[in-house]
Amino acid sequence: MSQTLIVCTTCKFSKETAFSPEGKTGGELLREKIEEIQTSRKTGRKVVGHECLWACKHSCTIMLQDENKTGYLAGYFEPTDDAAEAIVDWCDAHENSDDGAVPFAEWPQGMRGHFIARIPKFENGVQDE
Ligand code: FES
Repeated sequence: MSQTLIVCTTCKFSKETAFSPEGKTGGELLREKIEEIQTSRKTGRKVVGHECLWACKHSCTIMLQDENKTGYLAGYFEPTDDAAEAIVDWCDAHENSDDGAVPFAEWPQGMRGHFIARIPKFENGVQDE
């Protein structure tokens, strides 16, 4: 699998507070929920945490990188089970696509309105289109 899902670990728990009552950031909680789903589905997708992705106004944020396909930056997630499931569902759809362009009809409802940027694949340099 050539995908890596990056979760910003420093995104705030909510607009009002950085940390949950248990002392975790929203990004840390979202990463935990994503990893739980990945484990239950036995996906081989690599999930890594990374400090600030410089999209803080859109937190919680994630980025999907892929060696061979277009990647994506997405945000406006709350650290919930539903958000984590939508992210993993969308990563699965992306994995099953030829080039990373998932048809809109296949986007999980929980991903609609969450995309911020497309990240061109960087295989032999960015290709001119
Ligand atoms: S703290 Fe998450 S993008 Fe900046």
